[in-house]
Amino acid sequence: MAFTSRRPAIFLDRDGTLIEDRGYIRLPSEVVFYKDTITSLQRLNGRYLLFIVTNQSGIGLGILKHEDVERINNHIVKIFAQEGVTISAVYYCPHMRDQGCECIKPTPYFILKAAQEFHLDLSRSFAIGDHPHDVEMAKNVGAQGIYLVTGHGQQHLHELPSGVSVAGNMEEAIDMVLNRDSPSQKKTGIIGQAAEIIKRGGIVAFPTETVYGLGANAFNPLAVARIFEVKKRPYFDPLIIHIARPADLEKIVLNIPSKAKKLIDRFWPGPLTLVLPKRQEVPDIVTAGLPTVAVRIPSHSIALELIELAGCPIAAPSANLFGYLSPTTAQHVREQLGDEVDLILDGGPCEVGVESTILSFLEKRPRLLRPGGVSLEEVESIIGKVEIDPVKEERPSAPGMLARHYAPRTPIVLEWSDKDLRSYEGKKIGLLAFQEPVHCLKFDHAEVLSKKGDFREAAANLFAAIRRLDAMKVDLILAEPVPEVGLGRAIMDRLRRASHKGR
Ligand code: TXA
Ligand code: MG
Repeated sequence: MAFTSRRPAIFLDRDGTLIEDRGYIRLPSEVVFYKDTITSLQRLNGRYLLFIVTNQSGIGLGILKHEDVERINNHIVKIFAQEGVTISAVYYCPHMRDQGCECIKPTPYFILKAAQEFHLDLSRSFAIGDHPHDVEMAKNVGAQGIYLVTGHGQQHLHELPSGVSVAGNMEEAIDMVLNRDSPSQKKTGIIGQAAEIIKRGGIVAFPTETVYGLGANAFNPLAVARIFEVKKRPYFDPLIIHIARPADLEKIVLNIPSKAKKLIDRFWPGPLTLVLPKRQEVPDIVTAGLPTVAVRIPSHSIALELIELAGCPIAAPSANLFGYLSPTTAQHVREQLGDEVDLILDGGPCEVGVESTILSFLEKRPRLLRPGGVSLEEVESIIGKVEIDPVKEERPSAPGMLARHYAPRTPIVLEWSDKDLRSYEGKKIGLLAFQEPVHCLKFDHAEVLSKKGDFREAAANLFAAIRRLDAMKVDLILAEPVPEVGLGRAIMDRLRRASHKGR
């Protein structure tokens, strides 16, 4: 399934990186490849998806036309194709750099768009270019930037922050890409530092494919207690344990029912959490004294590397204050928990954007405790019917199922129609639309979750969009319901809780 097969990519600048920078060129005959461009990219053997991301301010300046730029881009893609090098997409920014646009800086829109459309793992991706903004934009999305001293590279070398990888030419840059996994780098790198903190009993915020987690060594009750303090989370709310390999399950659970095994084979690593009978060694503070434990293998490579290097299972709830929306960027974590955590690993925006699906295996038939990143339909296609009605009990077994949860400050209204709008007169209203908003209505702010009505895209945008509306200080957020199929079920679940209505 798609979540398990996210691929790394390389974003290549065009002028001064792939081809000589000869100013505002219009004709294929003006294109001069550096001599190592093609042979270097061939060495990647298709292991990375390749994109060209280029600034063509000549258009903004009125010197070039779109068709001039496209003619050159098509020519380059064609030559590459003839040499067995596939370019997945070419993005060009027509704006002048000093005008500041969102194509490339500060949040590189093109990279985020590619990540979504091509299902990329940005934490394993690179941007290569001869301008400091190329490495900067990589950093902003959790990818790695490699700065080239070809093209304008020499000229801006002094502007580079320290610690940036610098290569003399494309061949050296590709060497760096291919060597990136050397074990010595891992230990000294930032993930290695985070792992040391976990080993010493500290707490680290880290990206997963669903939302950011706040992690501690699951077998260190004192470290886990700090998570509850920092989040202001009640102790009756148990945590999910994150492991890196299925074999680690044995340290945590007593047995694995056959249906659970099937789901593990199919969906791990990925956004599915299983609630199973716990081993006695798992501290009570992790499970809130329950005889069961929630566990999953996340698919984000930073999360996996952190768990591997820490050498222990990591207990982690979402890295937000209790009751508030889960964070889907490192910045969200900084805003809420900032100094209280020992380190925040930045892996860019989370791909899935809603929390994992939680399934319990306590009864004969598995029960859905929380809809999430793996849809009910996908689960049922593997193990058959699943109970979906919540068990009625005083103490909720999954407080993530508390009616009011994942809530912003601003009230969210989910059930409304056009005619209610009159009664909101004089109020500042934000709209949270699933697809393109109905244009006849006038709102102070509108957020569109997915223009093309794609659930996956909508889920990935959901929490950040609600946060933005919350920050706009509107009096009310009107949310548009989405169809309750596939990931739409998780989206509606979070919207209901955010609207204080529960289910
Ligand atoms: O996607 C996710 O699941 C994220 C990332 C960080 O992995 N984590 C997450 O954790 O959403 P948290 O703590 O915010 O939500 C975990 C939910 C809670 O509602 C908790 O009650 C439930 O899992 N849970 C944990 N252990 C349980 C257990 N033994 N039985 C039933 N529910 C449990
Ligand atoms: Mg949470």
